[in-house]
Amino acid sequence: MLQAPSQKALIPFVSVENMMRLVHHIGVETLLEELAGVVEGDFRRWELFDKTPRVASHSREGVIELMPTSDGEIYSFKYVNGHPRNMSHGLQTVTAFGLLAEVSTGYPVLLTEMTLLTALRTAATSAMAARHLARKGARTMALIGNGAQAEFQALAMKAVLGIENVRLYDIDPAATEKTIRNLSDSGLSVTACRSSQVAIEGAEIITTCTADKQFATILTDNMIGAGVHINAIGGDCPGKTELHRDILLRADTFVEYPPQTRIEGEIQQMAPDYPVTELWQVVAGLAPGRRDDNQITLFDSVGFAIEDFSALRYVREKLRGTGFYQEIDIIADPDDPRDLFGMLQRAQG
Ligand SMILES: NC(=O)c1ccc[n+]([C@@H]2O[C@H](COP(=O)([O-])OP(=O)(O)OC[C@H]3O[C@@H](n4cnc5c(N)ncnc54)[C@H](O)[C@@H]3O)[C@@H](O)[C@H]2O)c1
Repeated sequence: MLQAPSQKALIPFVSVENMMRLVHHIGVETLLEELAGVVEGDFRRWELFDKTPRVASHSREGVIELMPTSDGEIYSFKYVNGHPRNMSHGLQTVTAFGLLAEVSTGYPVLLTEMTLLTALRTAATSAMAARHLARKGARTMALIGNGAQAEFQALAMKAVLGIENVRLYDIDPAATEKTIRNLSDSGLSVTACRSSQVAIEGAEIITTCTADKQFATILTDNMIGAGVHINAIGGDCPGKTELHRDILLRADTFVEYPPQTRIEGEIQQMAPDYPVTELWQVVAGLAPGRRDDNQITLFDSVGFAIEDFSALRYVREKLRGTGFYQEIDIIADPDDPRDLFGMLQRAQG
């Protein structure tokens, strides 16, 4: 007869449905603001973490990646894909799930969906970076690429920086219409624009989040005026960029983890000695962020494992006292740790 597994081996699992409930329970903007704070806290203790460029398996269609890290007490990894052509088959460009484990035992303590959580952590990280790099008092952002990440990006900039106006452009007007619909009750003033050139008019922050596996030119040098902060999140794997390289010659560029960004980010177009500042150093007060109102700052975001670690840690904390998870049986629990075969017999007959 099948016996119930012992309680100690069960771990919380957050399904997509429960993640949706948890996000609404907390409130999207509250969550984005709190998560930006948690990511910032982990950037401040950056040096403690095990860091490695993600392990990527590239194909013609896209990429599948594993993103591990640890702070010595907790270990995390995320499985994530990036497939720009998926959308034409009714599938998402990015999907993900991830796990937290205790370093002391190696036992997992949380398994969760991370497609929503990736959009939330990417937006929280963008806003945290903009808090250090954008001009103070910025109220208008342009959002080029109005796909799955778009609303999260806009709401994080509102929650963390007080952005009031969002100017949208996508090559597919249906994507822009979807984003306008989804942001209609957000309190943001949202404008659809007929080109990226028009979208960036008056914007103090420009976020590019397009998906196309090529060296694209979403922004050209002549479009970028003094004082702008560019948050480039779409170019995040080899052979995939969004900015003309001349912009990078005028901008001060901030990155997550240089060994990963030099392969995957906008700076893959530049010489290996192209100067960058690691964002964690700005957060920790070891390097300047924005120096003056005329400087062009660029956050060349590719997404780094520590941001996922922060998001997983945040979710684990927020789950306490809620019912927004199921307990699942994925760790064997023999009565005698050496008697794994004996445990197998529990399910006999
Ligand atoms: N840096 C990070 O941490 C991070 C995290 C998540 C996703 N991403 C990347 O961000 C990108 C966007 O992700 P998504 O989930 O929103 O993808 P998506 O496929 O849902 O949306 C992409 C949108 O870009 C539009 N687009 C494509 N080319 C364009 C162009 N030339 N001009 C204007 N719009 C254009 C498409 O029409 C689509 O609406 C992907 O490349 C993804 O890999 C980065």
